[in-house]
Amino acid sequence: MSLMEEIIAAVDEMPPFPQVVQRAMQELAEPEYEVSGLVDILKVDQAVTANILKLCNSAYFGLPRKVSSLKEAVVYLGADQMRRLLLSGAANKIYEKPNEGYAVFANELWRHALATAVMSQVLCRYLRLKIDENVVFTSALLHDVGKVVLSAFVIEEYQAIESKVDNGKSSFQEAEKEILGFDHAEIGGKIAEKWEFPPEIIAAIAFHHDPSHSPKEFRLLVELVALANNLVVMVGYGTGVDGLACRGHALLLKKLKIEAKDLEKLLLLFQIEMEKTCDIAGVGDD
Ligand SMILES: [Fe+2]
Ligand SMILES: [Fe+2]
Repeated sequence: MSLMEEIIAAVDEMPPFPQVVQRAMQELAEPEYEVSGLVDILKVDQAVTANILKLCNSAYFGLPRKVSSLKEAVVYLGADQMRRLLLSGAANKIYEKPNEGYAVFANELWRHALATAVMSQVLCRYLRLKIDENVVFTSALLHDVGKVVLSAFVIEEYQAIESKVDNGKSSFQEAEKEILGFDHAEIGGKIAEKWEFPPEIIAAIAFHHDPSHSPKEFRLLVELVALANNLVVMVGYGTGVDGLACRGHALLLKKLKIEAKDLEKLLLLFQIEMEKTCDIAGVGDD
């Protein structure tokens, strides 16, 4: 098997994205979603149900009495918190594998993914962009999922990749592509295709390092995820070598009409939301 065939085979072996979460997201995307419909979807998954109840009864919410019904918990948490809880739970499992090839641990990649999702949502709201928040959060959360597959191959070819980056001619993901035949963004796009995600999410993942080549109809979403990826790296949620791949954010800031004063506010909002999301997702933010 050639290296490229091996990589494609590894994509095929990726576990499926949880059906329950995908169906719940479709329900949550409706402006007037039915609580009972959502409960019917969620109740078949015991682990998900347990997590929802656990979160609702956690010290974070400090409710005066115990919530024991899923329906009550769904109503109490609301769409935004349900989305963060369900998606982050599913994505955490996917990013769980160590990513030695990228000189990061799974936990670091996971924090980066979560931070990118939060930053994308904050940007989307701040700029009042008319993009579905499920799509924004999912795309950003999974933008580096290709690294889960490529990591093992990156370790094997690390010397060759590193020397390409070192001589200054290639960024890390350009070197990935030259040596492995694919970069992690492209592989992420293939994983999203396998999961039968909508085309805008596939595009956001596949073009997050190269938004100017994304399909025009999804360009705004792709730029949003690309910018969020760069901004979180700047504020300390990077993943080792990924920092080297970040460029072009000045152009994106200009395109999205974000000025220095906006950036200050955005970073503040990001820190607040990131803390909340870490509580919801049950991860330590340090
Ligand atoms: Fe990336
Ligand atoms: Fe990234």
